[in-house]
Parts: sequence; C-alpha cells; structure tokens
Amino acid sequence: MNTKVVKVDREHPDQEKINGAGEVLKQGGLVAFPTETVYGLGGDGLNAGSSEKIYAAKGRPSDNPLIIHIADMESLAGIVREVPEKAVKLAEEYWPGPLTMIFQKNDRVPYETTGGLDSVAVRMPSHPVAKALIQAGGGYIAAPSANTSGRPSPTRSEHVEEDLSGKIDMILDGGEVEIGLESTIVDFTSETPVILRPGYISEEMIRQVIGDVSMDKGLLITDASVKPKAPGMKYRHYAPKAGLTIVQGNEKLVTEYINSQCKCLEAKGQRAGVICTDEDQELYDAAVVKSIGTREDEEGIARHLFGILRAYDEEDVTCIFSEAFDTPQMGQAIMNRLLKAAGHRIIYLEEKEENQ
Ligand code: TXA
Ligand code: MG
Repeated sequence: MNTKVVKVDREHPDQEKINGAGEVLKQGGLVAFPTETVYGLGGDGLNAGSSEKIYAAKGRPSDNPLIIHIADMESLAGIVREVPEKAVKLAEEYWPGPLTMIFQKNDRVPYETTGGLDSVAVRMPSHPVAKALIQAGGGYIAAPSANTSGRPSPTRSEHVEEDLSGKIDMILDGGEVEIGLESTIVDFTSETPVILRPGYISEEMIRQVIGDVSMDKGLLITDASVKPKAPGMKYRHYAPKAGLTIVQGNEKLVTEYINSQCKCLEAKGQRAGVICTDEDQELYDAAVVKSIGTREDEEGIARHLFGILRAYDEEDVTCIFSEAFDTPQMGQAIMNRLLKAAGHRIIYLEEKEENQ
C-alpha cells in the first residue's frame, strides 16, 4: 500500500485535504493525524473492520482497547450508556484537551473497538486538525497512538512514517505535537473515579474539579509484577533497543555512578548513552550524551522524551542511563513512561549518613 503524506496547516487546515482524509475514514481506511498529545492512527470507531485494520497495522494485541475521539459533547451520548455528573464537570473543565474518560458503552460501539470490553474510552482532542478530521470522518474516530506496538508514541509525522509507512492509507502531517505524552485516562465505571494513565492533566488538577480520585497502584511503583488496570499499560512499551536504566538520587552521586558504569562498559568495548538535562550535560563523558531539555521547562522534557528514545535506536549503544525527571506537574506522567521504557529498571542512590 502506498501511504500518502499530506501536509496540513496546524491552525487552519485546508478543508479540501481534510475532506479527502475524512472520505478515506468513511470508506473504512486508516489515516494518521496529529493531536495535542501524540499522533493518532485513526479509523471509523463504529466500524468493526476499521478497528481490526488498526490492530493489524500496529501489530497490537486485540485485547487492548482503542480510544474513540469525538469533536463535540453531543456525540458522547451517542456511544455511552450514561455520563456521571463528575465526568460532566471534568469535561467542562478539560475538554477539548488531553483527557480520556471511560464509560459503559452502548450497542453502537463494536467489541472490536473496545477489545471485548463493555466499556469505552472517549476523548475530545483540542488540536484543530484532529477536530476537523473527526467531523469530516463521521464523528467517531478510534485512534491509538500511531506507532508500532511497543515503540515510543510518535510526536512528529516522521515517527509515524518510520513505523507505519506502507501499512496505512494516509498521514496528515501537522508538524510537532505540543504535549508529547498521551492523554490522562480516568475510569468512570467504578464508584470512585480511577486514574488509569497519568498525563498532562495531573491528579491534583482532577481532584480540584471532582474531589476524590484514586490512582491505579500498578502505574508508578517499580515492581513490574503488579499489573495495571488499563489493558495497554501492562504491555512492554516505549522500550529502546538498548537496555535502559534510570538512576535517581542526589545529582553528584548520579553523575558519578553513571560515569563509572559507562567507563566499565567502554573497557569491555561497548558504547553507552546518557539521557540528562541541559544543566548536567557537561558532566557526563559517555560515548553519546543527549539532553532532554532544561529542568526549568517540564513541558519541554515531556515533549522530547519519546523523540529521544526513538533517536537512541539510531545510535550504536548497548546501554542507556537516564536521570530521573520527577518534575512538579508532569513528573508522574514522565516517570510512568520512562519506567515502562526501562522495564522498571531503576537504581536509587542515597548519600550515606556520616558518623554511623
Ligand atoms: O493521547 C492519547 O490518548 C492518544 C491520542 C492519539 O489520542 N491515544 C492513545 O491511545 O494513547 P492508545 O491506544 O495508545 O492508548 C490507550 C490506552 C491503552 O492503555 C488502553 O488499554 C486504554 O487506553 N484503554 C482504552 N479503552 C479502555 C477501556 N475501556 N478500559 C480500560 N482501559 C482502556
Ligand atoms: Mg499507545
């Protein structure tokens, strides 16, 4: 299959191009498109055949449900049984935006889209291209992140091409996305809402609007044997080809530890890589050192993370060491993705207390 790449203006996408892409979706085809979080791989969410094609193109296990993207609040009632009061409040505050909510689905939503579940995940993105495409494509666009299953989510259309060229009909290229980490997912099918995936909308931002919310315990702890609740969060994900280890603790101890590890590896004839911030870049003497941005700009760190993980696949290194990026608002989301990429391999370094 020849994958057509169509450039679109982020703010004012050409309606003719959008209509062309919408037609592909209505015919059951697949179109990758930019959202404010990451690029999505879109298909008609109410067409079982389209969802099957999405799983095939990504190489994704078919028990891992898709998110249906809508463009207006009226559309929500068309696919769910009921919308709890608290969900309405969250929608008023954060939709359109990087928030996904899970509800009981109605019969219009095929099980192929929900991975066999009776619930459905719904998101209303704010990106002008996404919005226009959803409207042109029938109003209900199922879209997982547009990467091959297991690879980092795409933040540029080039990443989508790397993974899916030849496997899908079209890519709408709207440049680099803004946020760079996938949406926050909140499950409204249980009594107390539960965060199944942290994202730009933090636990605190949710609590401010609806009060009590819990966090799925499987998300942040370092024990890989505790299984998270969102089916997709249990899979190996984002992992670069080289082994990744996170090193957390006092800055001086971290740089010393990483440098000594890199030296050992180089003595064995292996090349090592480092992921750090601008502030520490000069302190490392590994073969490859990549900065994720300044510690002052946590949104920049979030936006660059997946791109850096992808870039390391082009480097001839066997091991990568990363600093921890426990930033104030997006720290949970950033560390959740980094931990998954590292297969939960993390080393904590503590300063030894003197006079013991
Ligand atoms: O930001 C985003 O959410 C992006 C853009 C494209 O919108 N999409 C995205 O989709 O990240 P995906 O498929 O890569 O991740 C969806 C996650 C998976 O972990 C999946 O298991 C979970 O949402 N999920 C979807 N439906 C669910 C459901 N009914 N119950 C529990 N988890 C669900
Ligand atoms: Mg994904």
